[in-house]
Amino acid sequence: MRAPRIRLGINIDHVATLRNARGGVLPDPIQAARLAAESGADNITAHLREDRRHISDHDIARLLAEVDCPLNMEMAATDEMTAITLQAKPPAACLVPERREERTTEGGLDVVAQHNTLEPVVAAFGDAGIEVSLFIAAERRQIEAAAHLCAAAIEIHTGSWCDAFAEGREADTEREWQAIVDGAAYAHGLGLEVHAGHGLNYATARKISTLPEIVELNIGHFLVGEAVFIGLGEAVRRMRAAMDLGRQAVCLREGDSIAS
Ligand code: PXP
Repeated sequence: MRAPRIRLGINIDHVATLRNARGGVLPDPIQAARLAAESGADNITAHLREDRRHISDHDIARLLAEVDCPLNMEMAATDEMTAITLQAKPPAACLVPERREERTTEGGLDVVAQHNTLEPVVAAFGDAGIEVSLFIAAERRQIEAAAHLCAAAIEIHTGSWCDAFAEGREADTEREWQAIVDGAAYAHGLGLEVHAGHGLNYATARKISTLPEIVELNIGHFLVGEAVFIGLGEAVRRMRAAMDLGRQAVCLREGDSIAS
């Protein structure tokens, strides 16, 4: 299969986390988004949470008005967030599960159980021209449910794989990786665009870029951490290079070139 160039979405939530730790306006997540775009990001991801713990409504408005890079708005499928998203009309939205007490998005959406809640949201966003992805575990029944809802894309939750890799749990790493490999192929076969994200670093981003079905990665926390040491622009450039190396490996393997 021909491997398209893989897109890099930079999640700027944790620039806002840092800002909010002190109150005030610095560091400015919109400045971070501009720098990320100049350094090789293809889109900017921001999660407007119910408790507004990092990104604010004003940040979303500024990202849309002031940054020349498509916004992928992460959100829970609540009435409030659906109304805000339909009003803001970002080019893309990623529906995620959300619990107030969690530190980050800890699991994927249960699309099977939440079919009736998600269906009108996916349909309304589709009608509004907003490309919808569903953040799910790489499980066949969740992928089938996403396809059934006619979502444009799924984003595979890579958190368990990345945790197992970071902690050196080899058997778990292999099992989680196989689930991602199988899930990406299965989703692609059902006509879904396949994205991935959560917990990725240079090594895991490079590895997952070898899967030709994956067309987008969304990465935040690791890069904001790297920015402390090498600057955000350099961190984004290194991530872009890691992904391109992974993608080149698949292209060489298949005797193909990276499609632009
Ligand atoms: N994709 C989704 C859907 C997410 O919820 C998150 C975390 O906000 C990410 C990607 C980025 O994860 P990380 O910050 O661990 O790179």
